[in-house]
Amino acid sequence: MRLLFLGDIVGRSGRRAVAEFVRNLRGREAVEFIIANCENAAGGKGVDPDAAEELYDAGVDVLTSGNHVWQHRTIIPYIESDPRLLRPLNFPPGVPGRGWTVQKGRTSDVPVAVVNLIGRAFMAPVDCPFRAVSDVLDEVRARAAVIVVDMHGEATSEKVAMGRFLDGRVSAVLGSHTHVQTADARLLAGGTAYITDAGMCGPEDSVLGMRTDQVLRRFLTQMPTRFEVAAGPAVVHGVLVDIDQGSGRATGIRLLEEQTDR
Ligand SMILES: [Fe+2]
Ligand SMILES: [Fe+2]
Repeated sequence: MRLLFLGDIVGRSGRRAVAEFVRNLRGREAVEFIIANCENAAGGKGVDPDAAEELYDAGVDVLTSGNHVWQHRTIIPYIESDPRLLRPLNFPPGVPGRGWTVQKGRTSDVPVAVVNLIGRAFMAPVDCPFRAVSDVLDEVRARAAVIVVDMHGEATSEKVAMGRFLDGRVSAVLGSHTHVQTADARLLAGGTAYITDAGMCGPEDSVLGMRTDQVLRRFLTQMPTRFEVAAGPAVVHGVLVDIDQGSGRATGIRLLEEQTDR
């Protein structure tokens, strides 16, 4: 099966670009399942129920998130009732929502497990992502052969290490959070597809999706500065992963980088 994973979606510009991109892509590629990181989808920080619904309408099957997931309070009751929206698995026990799910795509009967992890290097000190994923892996594998992990993290070392740790045990370990696509998409020795960061879906003329003037003001003055989502055309960054649905082994991973005109 062919699966699409999209990097952090930033603001309305990112949401609209994703909708258009998915519409066009479906005409040229048989994509059976779409996963997207939505942690910046509402106003550039966090996600709210409207933004999540818009992304499902655009064709996304499972939404992953990260450190900004609780930015909008309305997402808390929503995440409890929506099994397609994940928060990192290694958040402390008792936190709302879930860290993994098994869903079927709209055009296929193959169950796909998606696990959302978050790193700890240069990030908030949450629980260990390595132990957290190990603890659930048997249960996940009992429900799906195809397993995709979103490793949301800052440090390349921690993400590469997670790829090595899970090689041969999951179909893909795909990174998010930095908003910059890395050039290391590959199949690891055990049959796991890997990329350190899939990139961003959001305004191109920006700093990680935010207005350049505002980000520069903060760097230059170190004063508190409000960040807004930048204007202009958006890029869509992600990867296409081919997976043998019987064994769960990946057979290919390909970078996607597309400029949209909105
Ligand atoms: Fe992000
Ligand atoms: Fe993040």
